[in-house]
Amino acid sequence: ATPTNVPESLYPARRDSRPTKVAIIGAGAVGSTLAYACVIRGVAREVVLQDINKQRVEAEALDIAHGIQFTPAASVAGSDDVEICRDADVVVITAGAKQKPGQSRLDLAGTTVSIMEKILPGLLAVAPHAVYILVANPVDVVTYTSLKISGLSPTQMFGSGTVLDTSRLRYLVSLETGTAVQNIHAYVAGEHGDSEVPLWASAVIGNMPLSRWGTTKSGVPFDADLCARIGHEVMESAYKIIEGKGVTNYAVGLAVSRIIAAVLNDEQRVLTISTLLDGWEGISDVCMSVPTIVGREGAGRRLLPYISMAERDALTTGAIHLRDIARSLGY
Ligand code: 2OP
Repeated sequence: ATPTNVPESLYPARRDSRPTKVAIIGAGAVGSTLAYACVIRGVAREVVLQDINKQRVEAEALDIAHGIQFTPAASVAGSDDVEICRDADVVVITAGAKQKPGQSRLDLAGTTVSIMEKILPGLLAVAPHAVYILVANPVDVVTYTSLKISGLSPTQMFGSGTVLDTSRLRYLVSLETGTAVQNIHAYVAGEHGDSEVPLWASAVIGNMPLSRWGTTKSGVPFDADLCARIGHEVMESAYKIIEGKGVTNYAVGLAVSRIIAAVLNDEQRVLTISTLLDGWEGISDVCMSVPTIVGREGAGRRLLPYISMAERDALTTGAIHLRDIARSLGY
């Protein structure tokens, strides 16, 4: 008998029983760590890695596959042939220029965009219906140009944006307030890079505005100075980590596996992904991050949080800069 009084779920069962498949392009530190994060979190049943370096990609996949006794059920494979990505539900592109110590993400634009021009047609041929997530830097410019190259809709293709920066911000606010990172509802918007903007005016802890927090664990007021210091530390994080170990890979792997899960499970989760904006707070024709609802179709509704005048001005300035860079590359 059909059960009665069962509330309609926000998470309806998948209509097809086909195993979920994620294809990760690029088996460098970010792509491989992302594959590992997807497997240990049980994000997808099938994880494939593709890279032009055959020896490297096969070795990374094998190393992860040898551990699946200890993870949720999954299969892992690696190949230099793009055919391995056929019919993926989600394609994540991590392949791109590598940021050297002292380089900004924007310095990588030309090289990474020409890689997108080379690889996107082949991917679209084997996985035309996938949701595409760009991760390679500068992610906002790469997302904008990839939309132009591919012709995909801004729902189906978006960038990982400031999901990682938001996590870095919450981590630091959590240390200052002694509150669980999951209860800190504060977002970083704008560029994933030097012009990013922490949205302090809308930040809440639980449901209390951060502005009412008072004194931090270190005994100073949670005021504009502290916000500026935290914002700066978030923005500088990647430089500091790259200086110390050459790459950033763990937190970005976890952040992107979170985005993939939101898509595959149709979670309708609010994440600061980078999407093509069309009139958000007066900003159009540029990809950058704002809190966005993410589900099975990809990028959904953009939220409209309360933002201060200074935040709006900073976002507008960042947008102009990002658009100029895309134009300078011929997009
Ligand atoms: C990061 O923020 C470098 O974009 C990379 O860790």
